[in-house]
Amino acid sequence: MIYFDNSATTKPDPEVLETFLKVNQYYYANPSSIHSFGGKVEKLLQQARAQFSKLLNVKENEIFFTSGGTESNNTAIKGTAFHHQKRGKHIITTSIEHPSIIESCEQLKDFGFEITYLNVDEKGVLNINELEKSIREDTILVSIMQVNNEVGSIQPINQIGQLLKNYPKILFHVDHVQGYGKVDLDLNNDGIDLCTISAHKIHGLKGTGLLYIREGIQLSPLITGGEQERKLRSGTENTSGIVAFAKALRLEKERSIKGILQIKEILKLLRDELSSIEEISIHTPQKYAAPHILNFSVKHYKGEVIVHALEEMDIYVSTTSACSSKKNIPSRTLLAMGRTEEMANSSIRVSLAFENTMEEAIIFIQSLKKVISNLEKVMRRSV
Ligand SMILES: Cc1ncc(COP(=O)(O)O)c(C=O)c1O
Repeated sequence: MIYFDNSATTKPDPEVLETFLKVNQYYYANPSSIHSFGGKVEKLLQQARAQFSKLLNVKENEIFFTSGGTESNNTAIKGTAFHHQKRGKHIITTSIEHPSIIESCEQLKDFGFEITYLNVDEKGVLNINELEKSIREDTILVSIMQVNNEVGSIQPINQIGQLLKNYPKILFHVDHVQGYGKVDLDLNNDGIDLCTISAHKIHGLKGTGLLYIREGIQLSPLITGGEQERKLRSGTENTSGIVAFAKALRLEKERSIKGILQIKEILKLLRDELSSIEEISIHTPQKYAAPHILNFSVKHYKGEVIVHALEEMDIYVSTTSACSSKKNIPSRTLLAMGRTEEMANSSIRVSLAFENTMEEAIIFIQSLKKVISNLEKVMRRSV
């Protein structure tokens, strides 16, 4: 099998799975229980938090565990909106965010909030001057993804963070779900107040994630109850998932330098070979793009046709993002980048992990050529 759909999710690392199982098996008490067994589990949770703090270079009390990227993004957007609405009801984001940002913003319109969706250029990158022009007296939050999940474009996070230092009342949230381990982000020096990371994109388990909240920032909780996670996120902690997530984060970081070099080489080969095929247009920009995502269209064929033909060869890629691929609508990101509707309907996303190899890329290219040639034969016969 060739698995090139790592932006949808990654294969759990065996070491991560082992940790998850061990914690579930031997440390299943509730960390809130007052007995010593609960105390042991609480200690494990504290150790995991300390590990996150070290790996991310932030304070322990700045880490809030959630059920994943979607919940962290919802908390960042709605938690900020509800807590700071007396100060203003205007939020700035981009038109190419993950649905967990866009739909959170859309929901807030029912509560009287106004949203500015910034455009991106043909490379999928926003214009910082446009961002500054869109700031208003009542702006309370700017939320920008670091790496786009469909095409891999990178936003100028540091520049935005520096700009927003001139507006101390505006919070800056960054969706770092596709970037962790692949594209650097400095939570201390990039002017970031809130940041989302998800475990299953880095060989951790689905259903675990975190929201970094800079010390001193207040958000309204979305989930209330037993007051876990310092009242921001109630519910018995997923200790085994969190401890496994800490391991996944550490392993991804350790593998990052060598891994990035390797996937850059693989992506270069894919880009060079695919751009020499007449029917193919590449959408991922050369510059300002993450090392693991390549998005392209094959002329005349819907993305799903190619995806299913490749799947017959035991090769797995996506059309748009995993969340949007079943909706059968053109890619919002590609339309925002000025691509035609036909192109936005025919896009394919290849997304790599550090475990992928050059040999897999070579087989992928040969297989894709075969798929295109077979489809052309069928088309010619039917004309
Ligand atoms: C950029 C981005 N943000 C958020 C999410 C949501 O993360 P999760 O699947 O952990 O809810 C995804 C998932 O695809 C993503 O790519």
